[in-house]
Amino acid sequence: MNQNTNSDMLVLKGVNTFYGKAQILFNMSLDMSQGEVAVLLGRNGVGKSTTFKSIIGLVVPKTGEIRFKGQSIRGLPPYKICALGLGYVPEDRRIFTGLTVMENLEVGRRPPRSGFEPWTPERLFELFPNLGALKTHLGGQISGGEQQMLTIARTLMGNPEMIILDEPSEGLAPVIVDQLANTIKRLKQNGVTVLLAEQNLNFARRICDRAFIVDHGRVCHESTMKELTDEVCEMYLAV
Ligand SMILES: Nc1ncnc2c1ncn2[C@@H]1O[C@H](COP(=O)(O)OP(=O)(O)OP(=O)(O)O)[C@@H](O)[C@H]1O
Ligand SMILES: [Mg+2]
Repeated sequence: MNQNTNSDMLVLKGVNTFYGKAQILFNMSLDMSQGEVAVLLGRNGVGKSTTFKSIIGLVVPKTGEIRFKGQSIRGLPPYKICALGLGYVPEDRRIFTGLTVMENLEVGRRPPRSGFEPWTPERLFELFPNLGALKTHLGGQISGGEQQMLTIARTLMGNPEMIILDEPSEGLAPVIVDQLANTIKRLKQNGVTVLLAEQNLNFARRICDRAFIVDHGRVCHESTMKELTDEVCEMYLAV
């Protein structure tokens, strides 16, 4: 694990993002320390995915600051942001259906980063035992949950320092959600910083250190996961 656990990994300050003339993010601000697991919680359409797209460069905020490991990344193209060590798993699972599980992983391989043991298919199969058993199967012939695991595993092959997961538990059977929770805990043990969006509050409670409640395109409440009250959840979440 990296020694420098208190440095700011990701900072958003006053981010305003538009799609055309429609403003979606309003002074969105949040920060994450290295090694943290944090969650964006909020109802449908409040701007969680737009926050992630703004971070990863899929949409460029009109104003505001976005810093990753101290460097401004606002306006950089997504591939450059990924190359800095930020991995992104979008809501829709994007695997190559005509490639095998193993080939899908190889597509994601990027150079290791110093001080961290690089991810290999073998290491990932320890984290995702199901995938190991399916390594010669085509991506299009594995289940939705397995595809979700594969998307995450492929992103890890890029050796990211931080990974953003957009609603990773959505549509997964409880047993797969359990596996995913264990996987994220192990990523944390490996020093990976994790930011996710979730509708599943129970899942978030099991794995996250911190919660950012999003409403109307901004963070309206921030606390440790432990201190997140039922009152706040009832006010801002569809519980
Ligand atoms: N490409 C786009 N063009 C125009 N409007 C968009 C676009 N993408 C999203 N929006 C709108 O922006 C708002 C925020 O959407 P976003 O996907 O960020 O919400 P979300 O919090 O991720 O919701 P969900 O929980 O349903 O995934 C919504 O009103 C949505 O309709
Ligand atoms: Mg979304």
